[in-house]
Amino acid sequence: MKGIILAGGSGPRLDPLTRVISKQLLPVYDKPMIYYPLSVLMLAGLREILVISTPQDLPLFERLLGDGEQLGMRFSYAAQAAPNGLAEAFIIGREFVGTDQVCLILGDNIFYGSGFGQTLRVARAELDGALLFGYRVEDPERYGVAELGPAGQLLGIEEKPTCPKSTLAITGLYFFDNQVLDIAAKLKPSARGELEITDINNVYIEAGRARLKTLPRGAAWLDTGTQESLLDASHFVATLERRQGTSISCIEEIAYRRGFIDAAQLTRLADKCGKSRYGLYMRKALEETNPVEANE
Ligand code: DAU
Repeated sequence: MKGIILAGGSGPRLDPLTRVISKQLLPVYDKPMIYYPLSVLMLAGLREILVISTPQDLPLFERLLGDGEQLGMRFSYAAQAAPNGLAEAFIIGREFVGTDQVCLILGDNIFYGSGFGQTLRVARAELDGALLFGYRVEDPERYGVAELGPAGQLLGIEEKPTCPKSTLAITGLYFFDNQVLDIAAKLKPSARGELEITDINNVYIEAGRARLKTLPRGAAWLDTGTQESLLDASHFVATLERRQGTSISCIEEIAYRRGFIDAAQLTRLADKCGKSRYGLYMRKALEETNPVEANE
């Protein structure tokens, strides 16, 4: 299975923060935002990742993440000329995905919770059609919202409905079989002029080939769409990290714990970080014999 991180858009709601830098490169406490969705794909066991961003921002992502070899992974990069919709990721990424299954994650989505890594690996192993993740929210009208039948079955998804049919938002993490490439290729832009991921999901639902996994209330799916929620996300990460002395979404630690890289390579990566708290954490991770797994 291949992974795609969609990290484009102009971040208008965060202006002027996003005037000269991509939203997905802004800090969430001690690391760039994109580390969080990247860590989700790594926890799912994916090692070939395509990063899609704007033509201006793409070189910055490349500077930050490189070719992935340092993490035992392989990163590719592709530009999205304009924010034509989330589903365009499968048109831009068609050649990259090839004949594989694919997991798409939005570059501004942050997930955290006990057992989440295991959930992802099971999801990946059992994928048949589409797998979506639902999360109960206060303000469903801001998201794609699930419509559920009496037995909790997924009947459809509405994008930003004025009268939501449930409180279950569809998160920005999607697993699809290879058919998604053909579905995306046939999509027409919606009334707001975008190729909608919700339209793809509804094709799978109508064919009876979509599954919805609701994340438990102990899990966190954090929003970074406004100044307030961005600050809240930083506070959330800082509170947990400082209390436990662990790191959320430290990609180098995950690469090490999942066996993508060895201890010598983690030491080299830590050395590159100099005296930063982040680098010191990597060194600490090397010494721990009985670690609390990050996001596991
Ligand atoms: O976060 C989950 C939600 O993401 C889902 O519940 C919705 O169904 C889905 O449509 C999407 O809603 P958003 O309102 O968050 O979409 P937005 O247009 O803000 O785009 C999400 C991220 O993707 C954002 O960081 C910008 C980036 N993006 C967006 C578009 C439209 C791109 O990289 N390219 C694009 O063409």
